[in-house]
Amino acid sequence: MKISFYLNRDLVHADVDPHMTTLVYLREFKGLTGVKESCNEGDCGACVIALGERTEQGIRYHAVNSCLYPVIRLHGKHVVTLEGISDSDELHPLQEAMENEHGAQCGFCTSGIILSLFCLFLRNATPTDEAILQALDGSLCRCTGYASILRAARSLAAQVQTDEDIENHLTPAYFSGIPERLDSIDELIDENRKLAVAARDYFIPEDLHELFEILENVDNPSKLTLISGDTDI
Ligand code: FES
Ligand code: FES
Repeated sequence: MKISFYLNRDLVHADVDPHMTTLVYLREFKGLTGVKESCNEGDCGACVIALGERTEQGIRYHAVNSCLYPVIRLHGKHVVTLEGISDSDELHPLQEAMENEHGAQCGFCTSGIILSLFCLFLRNATPTDEAILQALDGSLCRCTGYASILRAARSLAAQVQTDEDIENHLTPAYFSGIPERLDSIDELIDENRKLAVAARDYFIPEDLHELFEILENVDNPSKLTLISGDTDI
């Protein structure tokens, strides 16, 4: 069985190596070079993607370091890269704001910064300076000194005030169909929360209770490796 998830606009079915990172998968297998590789160990934020996960309040997007995120964990989620934040070839308002305020110099950090701010605005239409700085906490920029990036985020915050503004100006139109489309992926996970990918079993418990149930029921639990926020996958 393959994992299934939405990558920007498209449903993807992929038979992946459970040890592969999302960064490697996106750049080398999908050609999405808007995702940058720099430190490759979770320090710089160049590789940030927006990851949409279902919650009771709908899809919630958060910034994720793709260099640390096993690709197999994308199952049932929505991955958004720089290539997926606009409906057309036009610049997204965040990109325009960065351009207008000279928020990019070498540009290596820029896509991660834009995706981090994108997630912030989807959650919070009226971010304070503190919220903006917090959203940029995981992003290193060696060129700009951050002031121009902060100005860019502020200028966008001045243009949008409500969730409706965010939906109309910052969210691509194709996002509206994503919740239903993710629901249909759920049917692919069996009742044991198990995915058999690339001839290996991979379990995705949602809580400790499910984890212990799995450990009780597999043949050889000592052979299982627990992965959670691990940098050594
Ligand atoms: S490449 Fe630096 S955090 Fe991922
Ligand atoms: S613009 Fe060069 S690292 Fe940020």
